[in-house]
Amino acid sequence: MNKQPYPAEKQRQYFDWSKTWLEHPAKPSAEHAGQLGDLIRYHEWRYYVLNDPVISDYEYDQLYKQLEALELAHPEWKLPDSPTQRVSSDLTDLFRNVEHLRPMLSLDNSYNADDLHAFDEQVKKLNGLPAAAEVEYSVEPKFDGGSIAVVYENDLLVRAATRGNGVEGEEITNNIKTVRSIPLKAAFSKYGIRRIELRGEALIAKDKFQKINAQREAAGLPLFANPRNTATGGLRTKDPRETAERSIDAFIYQLGYAEDQSGQILTDREGSHAANMQFLHTLGFKVPLDVTKVCANIEEVIQYCTEWEAKRESYPFEIDGMVIKVNDLEMQERAGYTSHHPRWAIAFKFKAKQATSTLLHVEFQVGKIGSITPVAKIEPVQLAGVTVSSVSLHNEDFIRSRDIRLGDKVLVERAGDVIPYIVKSLEELRTGDEKPIDFPKVCPVCQHPLFREPEEAAWRCVNYQCEAQVLQRMIHHVSKDAMDIEGFGRANVERFYALGWLQNLADIYRLDYEKIAGLEGFGKKSAENLKEAVEKAKKNPIKRLLHSLSIHHLGKRVSELLAAEVDHVLELRHWDLERFVSIKDVGPVVAQNIIAFFRQEDNIHMLEEMEALGVNFKQTDQDRPKKVANDAPLAGKTILFTGSLEKMTRTEAQAMATAAGAKNISAVSGNLDILVVGANAGSKLTKAQALGTVTIWTEEEFLAQMGKS
Ligand code: IVH
Repeated sequence: MNKQPYPAEKQRQYFDWSKTWLEHPAKPSAEHAGQLGDLIRYHEWRYYVLNDPVISDYEYDQLYKQLEALELAHPEWKLPDSPTQRVSSDLTDLFRNVEHLRPMLSLDNSYNADDLHAFDEQVKKLNGLPAAAEVEYSVEPKFDGGSIAVVYENDLLVRAATRGNGVEGEEITNNIKTVRSIPLKAAFSKYGIRRIELRGEALIAKDKFQKINAQREAAGLPLFANPRNTATGGLRTKDPRETAERSIDAFIYQLGYAEDQSGQILTDREGSHAANMQFLHTLGFKVPLDVTKVCANIEEVIQYCTEWEAKRESYPFEIDGMVIKVNDLEMQERAGYTSHHPRWAIAFKFKAKQATSTLLHVEFQVGKIGSITPVAKIEPVQLAGVTVSSVSLHNEDFIRSRDIRLGDKVLVERAGDVIPYIVKSLEELRTGDEKPIDFPKVCPVCQHPLFREPEEAAWRCVNYQCEAQVLQRMIHHVSKDAMDIEGFGRANVERFYALGWLQNLADIYRLDYEKIAGLEGFGKKSAENLKEAVEKAKKNPIKRLLHSLSIHHLGKRVSELLAAEVDHVLELRHWDLERFVSIKDVGPVVAQNIIAFFRQEDNIHMLEEMEALGVNFKQTDQDRPKKVANDAPLAGKTILFTGSLEKMTRTEAQAMATAAGAKNISAVSGNLDILVVGANAGSKLTKAQALGTVTIWTEEEFLAQMGKS
């Protein structure tokens, strides 16, 4: 017998309907209102009971709002069991239910500045204030975890519960006792408080979550989808030891209820939410004081929310928005409550960064060194404000370890400046028609057999003349990192290539600019600009030329090391392995690749042509290593730039750091001394913060150190 309330087929159907509904809301009718209710109930079951939602919170909110609107326009269609008729619930029969001292309400949601202005106006109205008045708000992170209520009596933690349906929650005291950030004892009695209920959120730090998943992957266990489900699931395991293993943390963000020795209810402490939070912090609770800001008016609130939406990734915990609370407690009371949420608080929701989609097909792209990258084409979805329809699947192992199949419903994430990726396939939604992804045996472009080095993840087409590679190499050659030919770019390479004007790198230096001037969208001036840019690139130092050749593993750094050792690039033809590896930091693998490149007659011929066309092949001053004095400001330090820099390009910043004696490295590890963070810094910042040994500078601080501010 199938005990599941929703068998796979039904789930699949509900998922598809939900997506259709979100795109094309159905015509208002009693029948449709009923169907929408069914869909919402299904998603509530996935979210609250399984801790494993299949649509984003945003999508859920949209469905819910549609139903609310339908019922408002047609009260006669409202069914007694409509999801709008009750507070949502995560109650199961696994735990004892306990009643909260005060109902745990939810928050109303806002998505933009208009919503926040409307909220501000309502707060003023409810307080009898004129429209021009300014209300002070306390703004704090909206944690993406599971809400909890903890009760202290005579200074001892006596009870902890999940939110449940808001009135009753599940008693999880033993599990919460494993959470180190919740004190087992706190000196409330010193302040005349005998009994108090606090509200907060249990969650897992992002780096801890990654560690847990890495361990699960190594142990062959299924991966957790995200920190929230891992935390809420962890709180509701029957074995507190399992809770303890998940490194669950908890923030307190609300004082729920307090009473004194005689049972008298204490309404407020010092009159403001911010003061309450400070008080709880003093008593040893983990309170988000570092991100909390008291804003003088709604404009400041909007600005602060926007600021945090841009840098949400830099925070060590997942946050899905900000919570805005009227700071003054008397004003809160006057604003009051609906049955669902306080009228003195609102959540500002960030744009969702996870969404579900369907994997339609897989394209295999050939890179400049022949690596084959599988790219999933998915049903377009909005992620953090951008439409995503292609997602890299990295390599064959990635696909196999996650058992990703064609036709799968997939969970996709795009976090900050990180490229979108597939978190997992939703196996429960499979129909059986999904097909395994067949990795090609031959190059999809030139049909040459593919090879895979034992220690490498990618399959490679080793045909250096493969059309796709030739094209990608040319794109790399003109790019900023390589020869930096301004205004050339991918589009022109592809266009000239299609016209048959480019067959190898040398052709870039013998273009016919008169013909280019005649192309649609060009004209004389742009053709001349392009010519000038190409002429300028010819004079580049040879470290750029070396890097522009797309030799496997020959990156910027090794190019620089080699450039410092030769007077002329073609000298490298005569170097043997020993000569290469005698240079510090040049390994045997890249050495072999360079040797192989310079052994091919075609390549030598192409280089000679390039030189004849005027490209510089001789060492210049820029190639010679600069002597860095021991007293240079960053002598002997390692440095890494992350996020988007506003005052300089990353290349400029790195050059400045090198000139100051630092070594640029590419990953955060125990070896890193300094991390410079620009806007939207992502996981690197989180990791550096977690290490605790890395000095973290803003762009301004870096410039100040360089004596440039
Ligand atoms: S205050 C009476 N503050 O958001 C006010 N809630 O959608 C109750 N949440 O159930 C909530 N961060 O789990 C508040 N800083 C924060 C929050 C927060 C996350 C959650 C909480 C609540 C849900 C409402």
